Amino acid sequence: MAERERTRVREKNAPALSNYEMAIQRHRENAERNRTGRIVCRLADCEQVLTRQGRLRTYLGLTIQDTPLQDWIVFTHEIRTASGKHRHQGGLVIYVIDGNGYSIVDGERVDWEKGDLVLLPLQEKGVEHQHFNANPEKPAVWIAFINKFLQDYVASEITQTEVSAEYKASEEK
Ligand SMILES: [Fe+2]
Repeated sequence: MAERERTRVREKNAPALSNYEMAIQRHRENAERNRTGRIVCRLADCEQVLTRQGRLRTYLGLTIQDTPLQDWIVFTHEIRTASGKHRHQGGLVIYVIDGNGYSIVDGERVDWEKGDLVLLPLQEKGVEHQHFNANPEKPAVWIAFINKFLQDYVASEITQTEVSAEYKASEEK
């Protein structure tokens, strides 16, 4: 009796599609995104959000599913004073759109300004980093380009070691 019940439960919860069929469907959906997805990610469609790491505006990322190139994560970061601090694997590039500031990368200060490209290297234990604006008159803004394939292959994991002060203040309201 008990054995029969287990069998029934298994049948009820069995997925409608096999893994093989789901793979075919996923490939089709990805191909469709590349054929028909929107090509321009407009500023007006990308809301800036205050997160534990700071003020981020995501152009391409996990929640955006109507564009081609589903394996890229692209976002801007507006830094008014300091970002949060976190550690994750490198292998990504950051282009400074405006302003000037610096990052502390594994304890070492690196300065940057508008037009510069900042690289986070691939290292055995990832890279701890925090970003600072150096101009009290205006925020610094940079954009990061992260390839999801690479992040997955190197088993990157984000560890927040310090929460953005702005975010902390907004949580306390
Ligand atoms: Fe980061």
